[in-house]
Amino acid sequence: MSLTGKHIIVGITGGIAAYKTATLVRLLVKSGAEVQVVMTPNAKEFICPVTLSTLSGKPVISEFFTANTGQWHSHVDLGLWADAMVIAPATASTIGKMANGIADNMLVTTYLSAKAPVFVAPAMDLDMMAHPSTTRNIALLRSYGNHIIEPAEGELASHLIGKGRMEEPENIVKVLDDFFKAGKPLAGKQVMVTAGPTYERIDPVRFIGNYSTGKMGYAIADEAARLGAKVVLISGPVAIKPTMPEVEVIEVESALEMYEQCQRHFGDSDIAIMSAAVADYAPAEVADKKIKREKEEIPQIRLVKNPDIAASLGKIKRPGQILVGFALETNDEEVNALDKLKRKNLDMIVMNSLRDAGAGFGTDTNKITLYSKDGQARKYPLKSKKETASDILDNIVGMVADKD
Ligand code: C5P
Repeated sequence: MSLTGKHIIVGITGGIAAYKTATLVRLLVKSGAEVQVVMTPNAKEFICPVTLSTLSGKPVISEFFTANTGQWHSHVDLGLWADAMVIAPATASTIGKMANGIADNMLVTTYLSAKAPVFVAPAMDLDMMAHPSTTRNIALLRSYGNHIIEPAEGELASHLIGKGRMEEPENIVKVLDDFFKAGKPLAGKQVMVTAGPTYERIDPVRFIGNYSTGKMGYAIADEAARLGAKVVLISGPVAIKPTMPEVEVIEVESALEMYEQCQRHFGDSDIAIMSAAVADYAPAEVADKKIKREKEEIPQIRLVKNPDIAASLGKIKRPGQILVGFALETNDEEVNALDKLKRKNLDMIVMNSLRDAGAGFGTDTNKITLYSKDGQARKYPLKSKKETASDILDNIVGMVADKD
């Protein structure tokens, strides 16, 4: 759920619908959010603070100061702490104060200090709801960028029937959840990324390797995590770390180790992006002692073929799984890239050419063309690897949306 770990201020004002906020707080906490309740003094006439502090696990804040200790509650700190503020129920009076900056209680003061998105769930009698001052104040809140959770129609506390019922707590939670989900199109998806070089051991101190630094693959892993995916990054030896703490790194050394880890994690993955520069060959034997120079004859290293990891996954790919490969080329770029796309049963291939300055290994930039299975080619200008990762993932998100 997208509310996990989110800091939510629940602002409660003095209306009959305040009784529903016990459920609201309970549902938010169940969704993994941290909840801080701020009540207007009037709200306490409608629902008991003890209920709310128990359900939220935090003392309710209502006054600027705690009466017996004189402790000041900082509305500024609260405003900075929050990822979202939801005011439910919002009475006509509080909506009017919010619209006009009348900061005469802790709730409105916190609202004015809040940097986070604000959601307002009005609840009042139908005539108050329909009054031009309410309409104007709600329009003002909208103009400030606040989100209005429209009240429903139905029987009101006055027994009159009309618009003014506070939206049900389940739906308020859904509005918040959808809000945090937006911009996270890969939420609920697992993405497996390979990155870096592989080292193929010759003896205890030597290996066959390549110049890959892992920058492109790590940028892809970070971007996928930013888009909400669970990311497993299977990485050869590199000197960098992902910036997103959510990325799970599995360190490997050789192509064979990378192959084994990919086979292990591919089944659970919705998307696999193979950006590692895997060595094509490995020494047939690994000397257990350092090979010495003093010997007369020059040592010969017999090589054996490494498995093609991408192709092996292409063979076991299920319908719905997306497999993306890379092609680093020096010549005949398009022909080679399209050949790999087909041969390895990929859904998309990212081509970068060493003929383009600033593309390929080691640099902080890349210049790519994306070829997809359906024959489309998209050319991008020279960009940072971070921006390139975002372009690649934009295309993948589009493919996921087509499949879902
Ligand atoms: O055939 P080539 O090595 O140029 O193909 C590159 C693509 O295949 C990349 O996506 C790379 O990560 C992947 N690959 C692989 N296992 C190999 C060789 C390449 O997964 N042994």
